[in-house]
Amino acid sequence: MFGLGYVGSVTAACLAAAGHEVWGVDVDTAKVEPIVRGRSPVVEPGLDELVAAGVAAGRLRATTDPREALDGADVSLICVGTPSTAAGSTDLTYIKRAVRDIAEAARDVVRPESGFHSIVVRSTVPPGTVDGVVAQVLAEVPAPDGLTFGTAMCPEFLREGSGLADFYAPPFVVVGTRNPRVGSALTDLFAFLNVDVQIVDVRTAEALKYACNAFHATKVSFANEMGRIFRHFAVDSREVMKIFVQDTSLNISPYYLKPGFAFGGSCLPKDLRSVLHLARMNDTELPLLSGALATNERSVRDIVDRVIAGPGREIALLGLSFKHATDDLRESPNVEVAERLIGKGYNLRIYDAIVNPTRLVGANLRHVQSKLPHLQRVLTDDPHAALAGADLAIVSATDSAAVGALLDNPPARTIDLSGRLGAEVEALPGYEGVGW
Ligand SMILES: NC(=O)c1ccc[n+]([C@@H]2O[C@H](COP(=O)([O-])OP(=O)(O)OC[C@H]3O[C@@H](n4cnc5c(N)ncnc54)[C@H](O)[C@@H]3O)[C@@H](O)[C@H]2O)c1
Repeated sequence: MFGLGYVGSVTAACLAAAGHEVWGVDVDTAKVEPIVRGRSPVVEPGLDELVAAGVAAGRLRATTDPREALDGADVSLICVGTPSTAAGSTDLTYIKRAVRDIAEAARDVVRPESGFHSIVVRSTVPPGTVDGVVAQVLAEVPAPDGLTFGTAMCPEFLREGSGLADFYAPPFVVVGTRNPRVGSALTDLFAFLNVDVQIVDVRTAEALKYACNAFHATKVSFANEMGRIFRHFAVDSREVMKIFVQDTSLNISPYYLKPGFAFGGSCLPKDLRSVLHLARMNDTELPLLSGALATNERSVRDIVDRVIAGPGREIALLGLSFKHATDDLRESPNVEVAERLIGKGYNLRIYDAIVNPTRLVGANLRHVQSKLPHLQRVLTDDPHAALAGADLAIVSATDSAAVGALLDNPPARTIDLSGRLGAEVEALPGYEGVGW
């Protein structure tokens, strides 16, 4: 275990308690000495006892010398700090140093029986770190004869103050590696947790930890903004949020958490604007919610910019309403994309399974005729007709007719806004996802 701070010392003690032979390594003697004496180097409830038990059982030891720790070891876990630089970037100096320490020490020690050593980053690092700086250090200090290194990212999700409980009940155990030997070493290492070990792409594992922390920060800020605005209306926001979280189908759920295109429709933009107006009337700032409107607009602009950046002027827009299985065109971001592209002189043909000349009736027909007459002229109920001669398809429709037409007649470029077109479409040359 390289780095005996909050993450490293909890992990070391818990792994020792689970029966593993653990050596903790830190450059700071103030972290090593307490462990040698059977004490925790950090304040964390229950950790003193666990460290004492591990040391007494002879399964937990600590040193400042990486060679002592590496002797015969199968796995190195790196839990060193990854602080912010003044500019906000991640300082990877300690990661590089730890990897170098491991690689250099491996030259002077007894090899593990397997002839294989897993070097696993547990610290929080930006996507690309394991394949970038870690691989680079290992290229400079390659494994000695008779030993092979494999690398992985295995993010940690514990919180200080409840570190032990969180360690034993992680939300998931995720290992990012393309090396099956590292995958199986970590599956064995964490087997005692009785949690399925998910083996994923290295960068997915690196990004996951940032996604989690960014989301947690967003949740706190959202709840605080609810309090900041509703306080002016004699609303107890604690009561609101207590009920809010009871909705596990839409509020606290996978819904609205899939990367894709902008939100729209008759409610979300309108009601968000209304909350922001209430805030303005009360001299209250809601930067997060203002940001939600701004980032939604950014999603529309990004698509238009991506179209403009590429070649071709013939465009098929597959899907016009703001979401699947509705004919409601109010505040559809697809309508916005269509209008901006038409305004820039692109030739559009638009397919929608529901919003089309043969299906539109009543209020929606009147809406299209009066508000969107320019779109009505280019609407079709046949995805093949929309795609004929198109240089580019922008696709939010996911119905089988749209997918079939794309496979029959793929344009040079397809921008997928839904992420649900299936593997065959994703394998087409010129396919690009909006955020993947
Ligand atoms: N603290 C948390 O709750 C938490 C939770 C999950 C993930 N993380 C992430 O885990 C990482 C570690 O966090 P922490 O809070 O435990 O950090 P920390 O600052 O408490 O501990 C880091 C330790 O690494 C040691 N170190 C630095 N270079 C070393 C080297 N070459 N060899 C050995 N030891 C070395 C330092 O002396 C220090 O004791 C960070 O990337 C952090 O973002 C932290």
